[in-house]
Amino acid sequence: MHHLLLVLAGLRLALAQPGTPTSNLPILVNSTSTLTLAVQPACGSLDSTTFAELNTGINLGNIKTLVTFGDSWTSTGANGTVPLPPILHPPLPSAGARNSENRRATNGFMWSERLAADLNSKLLDYSWGGAVIDNFAYNTTSPANKTGVPRSDFNAQATFFFQQGRFLDALVPSQTLYTVAFGINDNGQFGIAGGDIDIATQTYITRLGELQQSGAQNILIHGMYTSHSETDALQSEVFAYLAASHAVNGTQFAFVNLERLFSTIAADPAEFGFTGNATCLVSANTIVGGCDDPDRSVFYIPGHPSMMTHGLINQYTQTVVGQCLVA
Ligand SMILES: *[C@@H]1O[C@H](CO)[C@@H](O)[C@H](O)[C@H]1NC(C)=O
Ligand SMILES: *[C@@H]1O[C@H](CO)[C@@H](O)[C@H](O)[C@H]1NC(C)=O
Ligand SMILES: *[C@@H]1O[C@H](CO)[C@@H](O)[C@H](O)[C@H]1NC(C)=O
Ligand SMILES: *[C@@H]1O[C@H](CO)[C@@H](O)[C@H](O)[C@H]1NC(C)=O
Ligand SMILES: *[C@@H]1O[C@H](CO)[C@@H](O)[C@H](O)[C@H]1NC(C)=O
Ligand SMILES: *[C@@H]1O[C@H](CO)[C@@H](O)[C@H](O)[C@H]1NC(C)=O
Repeated sequence: MHHLLLVLAGLRLALAQPGTPTSNLPILVNSTSTLTLAVQPACGSLDSTTFAELNTGINLGNIKTLVTFGDSWTSTGANGTVPLPPILHPPLPSAGARNSENRRATNGFMWSERLAADLNSKLLDYSWGGAVIDNFAYNTTSPANKTGVPRSDFNAQATFFFQQGRFLDALVPSQTLYTVAFGINDNGQFGIAGGDIDIATQTYITRLGELQQSGAQNILIHGMYTSHSETDALQSEVFAYLAASHAVNGTQFAFVNLERLFSTIAADPAEFGFTGNATCLVSANTIVGGCDDPDRSVFYIPGHPSMMTHGLINQYTQTVVGQCLVA
């Protein structure tokens, strides 16, 4: 009940805030950053044979709606709706995960919420923690399904979007940005008992094609924050597909390589303003034994960025889009 009241209070604050844009924004995002983006993108070209950071022409200034697909690095827990604010006080692991529907794998706002707020855009979030690209690509998911864990994938997320996305927003093609960020759990499941990355690659490309056919003109891809041969190859195929789409159909796309951001942070965290523990909490289940200053930690729960690091992901994403424009 206490948490519910805080959430409602937050909503009222957002709606009453003078100067709040007229768009339908239920969340007032605190975009303050205590960190510095101490890395520049490595802008590449469209004819690169491997994935490269670039933007073919997405104009963030035109965007009014953000539609997100992905895993716990993106999920606000909204599952196909406009997100509710995180529970910031008292501190909780995952800002409410395991305690409410309002789950997210950090201590506050996600990169996508910060981006949506910067653009005065509505955010429709289809991403979900643990998601892979295709459950049928790995022995641990299906058909063998050795782990027996229900798991979201790009197929399920896209299906749900096609069913109800058009009822939630006008989805004007020139004003809608689709973001896609998968690979962490694909790498994880592939590592446990093998799989067929070609299935995942074909699914990724097929789902992108369906989004394009239903009007997607602006697509932003987050490359994984770590490098692995099988997911690097997948990302290069997705990049090649989108480069061809740009040439043939005029699809605008941006590719942001989070591995560049996170490897630079790992090499010199202090440059960015990180001074505390690399990971704040010992597990996703408790704040007991956690650090005192999560704003200075790269990760909040193991393997998941802190709210402040999500701010860097947003800044880095916008920097690539702004600086890596190819003719
Ligand atoms: C916004 O975040 C900053 C940094 O964490 C914090 O110092 C400040 O108090 C916050 N502002 C509000 C209004 O919550
Ligand atoms: C998301 O919502 C849809 C529709 O209610 C449901 O079928 C699906 O299982 C949900 N996904 C998750 C991961 O909860
Ligand atoms: C795997 O098994 C779980 C538990 O029976 C089930 O909920 C889930 O849908 C299965 N996943 C796939 C991809 O078949
Ligand atoms: C999945 O498991 C089967 C049976 O253990 C194995 O033969 C196959 O190689 C595995 N698939 C892949 C692509 O690793
Ligand atoms: C271009 O658009 C057509 C028609 O929607 C589609 O069939 C084709 O796959 C697209 N090609 C690429 C490379 O995107
Ligand atoms: C944070 O670092 C300190 C000093 O190394 C250590 O004692 C503490 O256990 C760490 N806390 C966590 C949550 O890892």
